[in-house]
Amino acid sequence: MNNIYKPHLMTIKEITDETYDTKTFKLEFQDKSVAKSFDFKTGQFGEFSVFGMGESTFCIASAPTRKGYIECTFRKSGRVTNSLAEFDVGDTIGFRGPYGNCFPVDKFKGKNIVFISGGIGLAPIRSVIWNCLDLRKNFKDITIVYGAKTVADLIYKRELEEWTKMADVNLVKAVDPGGETKDWDGKVGLVPMVLESAKPTGKNSVALVCGPPIMIKFTLPVLDKLGFDLKDIYTTLENRMKCGLGKCGRCNVGKVYVCKEGPVFTAQQLKALPAEY
Ligand SMILES: Cc1cc2nc3c(=O)[nH]c(=O)nc-3n(C[C@H](O)[C@H](O)[C@H](O)COP(=O)(O)OP(=O)(O)OC[C@H]3O[C@@H](n4cnc5c(N)ncnc54)[C@H](O)[C@@H]3O)c2cc1C
Ligand code: FES
Repeated sequence: MNNIYKPHLMTIKEITDETYDTKTFKLEFQDKSVAKSFDFKTGQFGEFSVFGMGESTFCIASAPTRKGYIECTFRKSGRVTNSLAEFDVGDTIGFRGPYGNCFPVDKFKGKNIVFISGGIGLAPIRSVIWNCLDLRKNFKDITIVYGAKTVADLIYKRELEEWTKMADVNLVKAVDPGGETKDWDGKVGLVPMVLESAKPTGKNSVALVCGPPIMIKFTLPVLDKLGFDLKDIYTTLENRMKCGLGKCGRCNVGKVYVCKEGPVFTAQQLKALPAEY
């Protein structure tokens, strides 16, 4: 019988130091047939394992439009992530997934898309950004609002540069007051304020928001002001998980299993959930 908890063996092909505590791994499946057949949707996550140590839940940060590998971006925050941070190119880790639902990219066709993220919250959003940019003609205006505490905390710096250069992408990057350097060429301010001054239209638009809960809390009223409907605002939850498969009961909010019915929810769906999420 198939063991649903058995991870795929993955080789670390590339490591990018995003910040002082955050890294991105580019991973390839060691089993060539899995490498060929593996597919996922943007917004899904996986369980990444260090053998003998345990597993950690990360979103798949690469885009499903780019085949043959997956990427994850993690911040050193505990046992597994501290251990992962010691790994080198060529080393083997485990991965099982993809799990969960996804951002309904097909539903975004013909609409403006506003991506709003803070800190490491850009990881799940980056997957959708590249997914949409790889299918660029399907969408209208693309705005990316990304903020971090300081310049040193910005992740995907090379991609921020790339998006800046793209004529059909409006990137607004920001750092919190006091977090700027002398040569900082972005905005200074908190994400909700920066979003408000960027004034993207809520008409025929969807917004994808991911970041610290406090950022999301203050971003929702701004989106309301800009005319976004709650059903057109998507976010992804990071409730603590273990199995990722709807079996262990770790991740539930009320009756909802975030690993199965989420992690992607609309603001309208979140409103109907118990406040504990
Ligand atoms: C769907 C989903 C996607 C995620 N994507 C990413 C990602 O792309 N990159 C990333 O760095 N992290 C992500 N996380 C959070 C990540 O899973 C945890 O930070 C990670 O499990 C910590 O593992 P650890 O063994 O290093 O830490 P542990 O030793 O298990 O914990 C370290 C500390 O973090 C706390 N913690 C653990 N899990 C969570 C959690 N889910 N939420 C809040 N606090 C937690 C613990 O209580 C403890 O204080 C995601 C979580 C979910 C559920
Ligand atoms: S993580 Fe086990 S039920 Fe959701």
